[in-house]
Amino acid sequence: MKREIRPVKRIGGVIRVPGDKSIAHRAALLSILCQSPLQVSNFPPGSDCRSSLDAARKLGVTVESGDNGALTLSPPPQLAVPSETIIDCGNSGTTARLLAGLAAGSGVELIISGDDSLSSRPMKRVVDPLTEMGAELFDTEGHLPLKINGRKLLPFEYRLPVPSAQVKSSLLLAALASQCALTLQEDLITRDHTERMISELGGGIDVREVKPVREEDPLDPRKKRMVMPESFKKEIVLRSSSKLAGGTVDIPGDISTAAYFFAAAAVSGKTVTVEGVGLNSTRTAILEHLKNIGCTVEIADRERISGEPRGTVTVTGGELKPRKISGEMSARLIDELPVVAVIAAYSPGTTIIRDAAELKFKESDRLAAIASNLEKMGVSCGVLEDGLVIERKNAPNGADFETFGDHRIAMAFSIAALFAVGPSTIDDDSVVAVSCPDFYQILGQIIQ
Ligand code: S3P
Repeated sequence: MKREIRPVKRIGGVIRVPGDKSIAHRAALLSILCQSPLQVSNFPPGSDCRSSLDAARKLGVTVESGDNGALTLSPPPQLAVPSETIIDCGNSGTTARLLAGLAAGSGVELIISGDDSLSSRPMKRVVDPLTEMGAELFDTEGHLPLKINGRKLLPFEYRLPVPSAQVKSSLLLAALASQCALTLQEDLITRDHTERMISELGGGIDVREVKPVREEDPLDPRKKRMVMPESFKKEIVLRSSSKLAGGTVDIPGDISTAAYFFAAAAVSGKTVTVEGVGLNSTRTAILEHLKNIGCTVEIADRERISGEPRGTVTVTGGELKPRKISGEMSARLIDELPVVAVIAAYSPGTTIIRDAAELKFKESDRLAAIASNLEKMGVSCGVLEDGLVIERKNAPNGADFETFGDHRIAMAFSIAALFAVGPSTIDDDSVVAVSCPDFYQILGQIIQ
């Protein structure tokens, strides 16, 4: 439905956000490979995670639901599905890519499909390495539908050519399902929820981060220099015959959802607190960015539950300054870049975002979607091969925003609308249901 959003005067409050989407996908899909039931709490209500839960059900998992996102996921005694079973992953790239791995290593035969947006997203990035591992996969010109004939896979060593947690996790699920050894190397560190959950559930996995070492400078032996002993940053080794026992997964609040409410604090100069939010260091780049541009970030009540850190985060806006985002920071901020761009529209000067070409392959072409909406607000936004150049000239005006069917574009520009001059509209507010169906209700809690 079309939604009108009027500018607000005051922002502030203490809120909670739904459980972390990435962790929830992994809980649903890893439950298929567990030897005993997995007890999950705070499973989020969005349609993306429902896609993973539905996939688990189709693969034989019994799902019992309780209050507040409590689930008992009981694995099937043996993984078997009628051949040519079709699993529709809706809008969820994480479901499609992780499930492709799990199926490839499980010996099942199935077909993975998705909605129009998901069917336009690249799948070769999982098809190629899974084929090298020994599975048989038939994509549709690099996209879904994808037919998978699972096999007993071979031990595999792979250096990830794109920084993608989905690809990394797909291969880990394939190797786990097939009980074969896998070594992965990452040049840029991506979210590590799969590694943590495998370890928490009793799987044999070792992770080694490569640190720079001091070495004599060959040009001047009196000097020392810091060098990386290997060219990659992280090595992940899944041992052969690794099995998951089962256990509990308590899901923290999703920091990528909290980011929209932190952005409202940043732009308004006011304070927003989000309780119980995930603080895994592969996900907290948004907090570093907010500090870099002049906000205050305080963290209290730190805890570690189910192998994942969490805490209460308070963000207070300050005098904003532009900051270039590139390299590893872009990779670590990938899901937050739409709302980072919105903050940039309310910051003085020019914000440059580089090394973010992956944004073109998300639920929409996010580089184009962000630029088109910012231009509608009267903010200059140039699109580069791998990023954006955002320059605010005057106070941004309200506009008729297009979501392009993308939940993160809808949420980011709903925040933009709160501080614009004049009213705005969001063409289809229902798309927020992919990750946060209660987004507007939670937003209402911080509008005073
Ligand atoms: C995700 C990984 C990221 C992210 C996506 C969720 C995950 O995608 O953008 O929203 O849960 O593994 P890539 O793996 O393509 O970088």
